[in-house]
Amino acid sequence: MAAVKPQDVIDTQRQDWNRVAPAWEKWDDRLDQNMAFVNHRLVAEGRLRAGQRVLDLGSGTGYPALLAAQAVCDSGRVLGLDLAEQMLHAARRKAERVGVSNVRFQTADVTSLPFDDASYDAVLSRFCLMFLPDIPRTMREVVRVLKPGGYFAAAVWSAVERNPFISIPLAVLKTFLTLPPPDPDQPGIFRLAKPGELYGMAQRAGLTGLADDEMTGESYYESAEEYLASLLDMAAPLQPLFAKLSPKQRRDAEAQITEAANRYKQGKGVALPMAIRIVSARKPLPA
Ligand SMILES: C[S@@+](CC[C@H](N)C(=O)[O-])C[C@H]1O[C@@H](n2cnc3c(N)ncnc32)[C@H](O)[C@@H]1O
Repeated sequence: MAAVKPQDVIDTQRQDWNRVAPAWEKWDDRLDQNMAFVNHRLVAEGRLRAGQRVLDLGSGTGYPALLAAQAVCDSGRVLGLDLAEQMLHAARRKAERVGVSNVRFQTADVTSLPFDDASYDAVLSRFCLMFLPDIPRTMREVVRVLKPGGYFAAAVWSAVERNPFISIPLAVLKTFLTLPPPDPDQPGIFRLAKPGELYGMAQRAGLTGLADDEMTGESYYESAEEYLASLLDMAAPLQPLFAKLSPKQRRDAEAQITEAANRYKQGKGVALPMAIRIVSARKPLPA
């Protein structure tokens, strides 16, 4: 398969996430409800302490940057980076709403970090790294900007079959469209799903690996219809595929997705299992 040019990846990512930014802001409460535990895990894996300087790669609408800012207290500082300015507008509005003032958000491509060497105590990232065109390069940048002894902690999606909230629509779309098998070396939702993949990249970049775990959870929705509505609104990587369906195919696909989601009924709503890979590593201290 022909390699996609890195700049094309960046441009598509910027467009995709700017397009869905209003939807991410609209569904923000639901997202927080479903994903807050990941932020807490990242803050713990990053060993955040009061007074530290922390970088968040691909902050989107603000996480984990906002929780990190609370963890480092008023004496610490957090900077969230993202390609998509519209996502960051939402993050800034949220920081103001929740009264967190020691966080800033800046537009940047995290493939190359515009900072001095050894300027951060920790680098965190939630659900961004798998979309980068050159992850090893970014990991070398992470090592460069970390202070000796500083921590890296990232969350990426684990295997597709353990993430029904994404595998359900993908399976349904495949019955209507011929989708080539995902190229394991190209950016995409499951690019870093394999155990050891991101962990190995972190080690090869010069970090000491600490953990490469799968963390499971559930994404809760009041109904299968609510799940479908949030998916159609927010899932930037899937929207171009839905756009290829005819109106009839689209109605049928939506009905099939709702039916499949209803197999995960819990109480009055649905709870779709999620599996997340958590990788943490540390920059060695000088001998
Ligand atoms: C799935 S969203 C995750 C956002 C947020 N961290 C969260 O977990 O809610 C992925 C984010 O990564 C950002 N992103 C993708 N490639 C990037 C790059 N090369 N540099 C900076 N941000 C990037 C996108 O703009 C998007 O906001």
